[in-house]
Amino acid sequence: MQNSLRGKGLIVSCDISGTIQNVIRNGYGPDLPLAVGAPLDSIFETACREKVLFFLSEARTNGSVIDWKLVILLNSGLAVLHCAAVLRDNMLTVIGSSFRDSVHQIMEEILRINNEQSNQMSSMMKEMQITSRHSEYDNSIYNELTRLNNQLSNMQREQLKKNAELERLNGALKSAQAQMLQREKMASIGLLAAGIAHEINNPIGFILSNLNSLNKYGCRIMEYVTAQSTAMESVLQGEERCDDVISNLAKTRRRLKIDTIISDFFNVINESTEGAERVKKNVQNLKNFSHLDGSQWKLSDINAGLESTINIIWNELKYKADVVKEFGELPETLCNPGELNQVFMNILINATHAIETHGEIRITTGIADGFITIKISDNGGGISPEHITRIFEPFFTTKEVGKGTGLGLGIAYDIVKKHNGEIDVESKTGRGTTFTVKIPVRSG
Ligand SMILES: Nc1ncnc2c1ncn2[C@@H]1O[C@H](COP(=O)(O)OP(=O)(O)OP(=O)(O)O)[C@@H](O)[C@H]1O
Ligand SMILES: [Mg+2]
Repeated sequence: MQNSLRGKGLIVSCDISGTIQNVIRNGYGPDLPLAVGAPLDSIFETACREKVLFFLSEARTNGSVIDWKLVILLNSGLAVLHCAAVLRDNMLTVIGSSFRDSVHQIMEEILRINNEQSNQMSSMMKEMQITSRHSEYDNSIYNELTRLNNQLSNMQREQLKKNAELERLNGALKSAQAQMLQREKMASIGLLAAGIAHEINNPIGFILSNLNSLNKYGCRIMEYVTAQSTAMESVLQGEERCDDVISNLAKTRRRLKIDTIISDFFNVINESTEGAERVKKNVQNLKNFSHLDGSQWKLSDINAGLESTINIIWNELKYKADVVKEFGELPETLCNPGELNQVFMNILINATHAIETHGEIRITTGIADGFITIKISDNGGGISPEHITRIFEPFFTTKEVGKGTGLGLGIAYDIVKKHNGEIDVESKTGRGTTFTVKIPVRSG
């Protein structure tokens, strides 16, 4: 007869020596000799020393054979084993089961788990060691970083001081440069003063002489008019005869050269007006050239700037070269016209110095790729290859003492750079030189 024991269970716990520590009988096996303190072997053939808890459940009796399910509580979970045992003389004898093997398997499993755990532990330990070594390493890195950071802050402070000093020096340099530019301008104006004085003095001279002549003419005309009035008076009062008066007046007219005065009078006036115009033009050129009206950066016509520069140094140019102007149509561009005129003047004066007796200076202007291009060519002596790389250096000169300071092209270079432009030179010794200045077109 089959007697189901489902729903009943038995919990036996033992210590690792295999001695039973606790028995909970859940309506099952009341007769089993499972006394606390007895060896576990008393119920099982095999001691399962590593296990601390067995749970016997779902046992079925089939005659004297008990089929049971043994649940073993492991650290890692539950293991369920099946076995069949025979209850004889109140002793449970396991028959026909792989129980023993299973326990071995469990033991192996437990060992494996233990190994795994100890491996995990040791790798964790290693990791901790590494971490702690890392943290030691991190500490030293941190210290080094702090040291470097402090060093960097000090350097930054030093740098800031140096920057401030550099800014101060830069300011001083700028004002020195501005002074140099001013001096160079004054020097070139000084150089040109004689020419300009001549240009102004000449017309002023003949205007003065013409005024002198007009003064004399005026006196003679006055004398003649007075003689005429006196003669008319005496005719009217019957003191003199009309024929005599007319003949006397004709004599006076010849003596005072009234006819010459009349024919010359308007010539003298026209000549003086022309002279005065020349003076006015020269003054205007001077004003345009140096921008004495105080204008600085403004929209300007570069062709007009070149014209006024040529006018202002005309006295220097005219004896040395035929000046050929090939001016293209140019838009106005934002620039400092006074400074650009200084550039053109420095290049043109150099060109006159390079021409031995008489040559040609060609000035071409045009526009390409957003740049106004000004080419100034001369057919003078040219620049030797060993000098050409140095001509823009301040104080580089091949001219004799007193003739050149070596600043002209250096200043021209600075001015062009200030305009975001370019200045280039091509030269062949004995053939001539071409300077090309490029200024970007800026509408405002
Ligand atoms: N058109 C040119 N032909 C030949 N040589 C030139 C020409 N332009 C410049 N140079 C050379 O370049 C040098 C430097 O010119 P830069 O204008 O800077 O100084 P400088 O003319 O000598 O003196 P400064 O212009 O200060 O009076 C000149 O001394 C000259 O040797
Ligand atoms: Mg020069």
